[in-house]
Amino acid sequence: MKKFFLTTPIYYPNARPHVGSAYTTIVCDVLARYRRMCGEDVAFLTGTDEHGEKLERAAAAAGVSPRQFVAEKRKLFIALWKKLGIDNLRFVYTDQPDHVTSVQRMLRLAQVREPGIIYKGQYHGRYCISDERYIADGTEPANCDICGRPAELLSEENYFFKLSAFQGRLLEHYDKHPEFIQPDFRRNEVLRFVKSGLRDISVSRKRIKWGIPWPDDPEHVFYVWYDALTSYLTGIGYAQGENGGSDFQKYWLHADGPGEMVHMIGKDILRFHAIYWPAFLLAAGLPLPTTVFAHGWIYYEQDKMSKSKGNIVYPEPIVDALESFGAPGNDALRYYLLREAPFGQDMSFSYDGLIQRYNADLANDLGNLVSRTLTMLSQYFDGTVPPPLELVEQDSAVSNLAARAIEQSVSCFRHFSLPQGLEGIWTLIAKINQYLVENQPWALAKDPGKRNRLSTVLWHAAESLRIVAVLLSPSTPEAAGRIWQQLGLAGRPSDVLLPQQLKWGDLKPGTKIGKPEPVFPRLDKEATLAKLDELVEADLERDKPKEAWKSVQHESGKRPEASPTPESPTASPQPLAPSPEKISIEDFAKVDMRAGQVVAAERVPGANKLLKLNIDIGTEVRQVVAGIAEAYPPDQLVGMKVVIVTNLQPRKLRGVESNGMIMAATVGPEGRPVLVTFKEDVPNGARLK
Ligand code: MSP
Repeated sequence: MKKFFLTTPIYYPNARPHVGSAYTTIVCDVLARYRRMCGEDVAFLTGTDEHGEKLERAAAAAGVSPRQFVAEKRKLFIALWKKLGIDNLRFVYTDQPDHVTSVQRMLRLAQVREPGIIYKGQYHGRYCISDERYIADGTEPANCDICGRPAELLSEENYFFKLSAFQGRLLEHYDKHPEFIQPDFRRNEVLRFVKSGLRDISVSRKRIKWGIPWPDDPEHVFYVWYDALTSYLTGIGYAQGENGGSDFQKYWLHADGPGEMVHMIGKDILRFHAIYWPAFLLAAGLPLPTTVFAHGWIYYEQDKMSKSKGNIVYPEPIVDALESFGAPGNDALRYYLLREAPFGQDMSFSYDGLIQRYNADLANDLGNLVSRTLTMLSQYFDGTVPPPLELVEQDSAVSNLAARAIEQSVSCFRHFSLPQGLEGIWTLIAKINQYLVENQPWALAKDPGKRNRLSTVLWHAAESLRIVAVLLSPSTPEAAGRIWQQLGLAGRPSDVLLPQQLKWGDLKPGTKIGKPEPVFPRLDKEATLAKLDELVEADLERDKPKEAWKSVQHESGKRPEASPTPESPTASPQPLAPSPEKISIEDFAKVDMRAGQVVAAERVPGANKLLKLNIDIGTEVRQVVAGIAEAYPPDQLVGMKVVIVTNLQPRKLRGVESNGMIMAATVGPEGRPVLVTFKEDVPNGARLK
């Protein structure tokens, strides 16, 4: 049986997972389910990347030990994957005890096989803590090319890995294995980079303690990326026994037959996976993965999701909102993420887009087809699948197209062309819809002489749906299962072996269908958006119980760059500890706070907690969106003097721009906002110091 080892990146548990992290995991879940249906022996691995400076600082800021901190946050990932129905998942975390063995073993193997490959040197340059990457040598200020944040100056003694020695071997591998880096345009990027010359990289850190100890030199810990990449091996038992456990032998060494190893990653971490990782493996004498596939990023309405912009999309409220209308929330989210953009390219997420896609493809095209077909089978054939009796040319057009859909979808899923795979299925769905319109079974039913034709038409529709359910099973497993059940079929659609067992014509006449129930009820756009608003807000409030009103204004809780805040994603509300951190007067002086006067206030439609305020700050009138609607009726605010922070980045809330933040105290267990105001008259624009 062919082996298929598939990994997501291991996520930093400094913040709760968002739709970007869910994207990779969902895509992998689809691929893993698909490969299982193809009869492959699949190991599907995800996990958390728990060491390094970023986590060390986040834990310090939270006032807990790094180990406690990551253990708590790890649960959020496990819980989300469960909620999203991610199937048969293995989970690795880099703080797990046997991971130390893996990392140290990899290094020792490299040292023995390639003497001189590791050497001690001095690193002096810029380092981005948020992305845990070395940015540039020397003292010149530099920004991280991924997150754009200013990189910190780092000067310490490190162990270096002689990456420069691998340039030729890597290029040779890329050349011999064009499938190693995908898509092609990413491969070209890597080729250009490697051809331009590789420099040695630092693989240890001295300033930090939170990491895997360097063998025989306790002052150092491993650089977090060396540690993180090796988790792909730990996750399949590399640390077991002298030469790795049986799963490692099976999935990585392919001891008992052929297999594929695929790392699915986001575009930002390609260099680590396509250059560093194969070099580390080559040095240790281990086989390289088959493919590193770098997908694009999800942007929120064309903008990069970021905590400071307050535009991070979380999956939970989406799933819950859709489910509150009886729609399969996980399937809808999965389908939208898979279908919206060519796989490998960036995509722009929008709630509108999600609802639109759901209504057009799932509710209209597929949902209606299912309910029409099943209702007619109930009405005209007493809930039994009739036989195909009187075949005409039009019918063979349907069966031919079904065969093509099977071929297209199976091949596209194998080659990571997920949207095209779905397109093939939708071509079949469109064809059947058209076939029903042309054949008008509802009219045939009125004429007893056309009974055979009616029987044939409905058998074709039902047989197409059976094929659709099987092909959709990896992508929308819940709905596929329901269609299958309603067709009265035994087992699950995922039991059908692809492609061998999926053949046109296998639907048995006489099958008793199940009770027709809507699989994809149509969503009312306004009502769904309002529900999404409500649940997104409630979700944010759960995150920051005491600062709830602020969380809908600006990133008020953000600490200076040097100490990134964990996003306090604990599920249960916890009292806010007073910040242990002191800031300099210069830092404080950066915050521009002014006296202002509310000149207009109104509710933001569809958002229970938000008010849009116009505030006169002397030099201009600022629009601010504040989460205070439950504490202040709009008309009570007009004329009130308030304090506004004027130099925050603008951000959009429910599509309304907010250009500042008004200050309030949070009071009581609910965190009720009480606005800051003045006892004496103060001119608009007066600065607070
Ligand atoms: N810990 C490293 C990975 C180590 S793998 C040996 C890391 N973690 S991360 O949490 O920052 O990112 C994990 C993955 O999430 C990356 O592949 C990244 O590209 C992906 N995404 C983060 N934000 C994303 C979007 N907005 N959209 C799509 N993917 C995104 O890097």
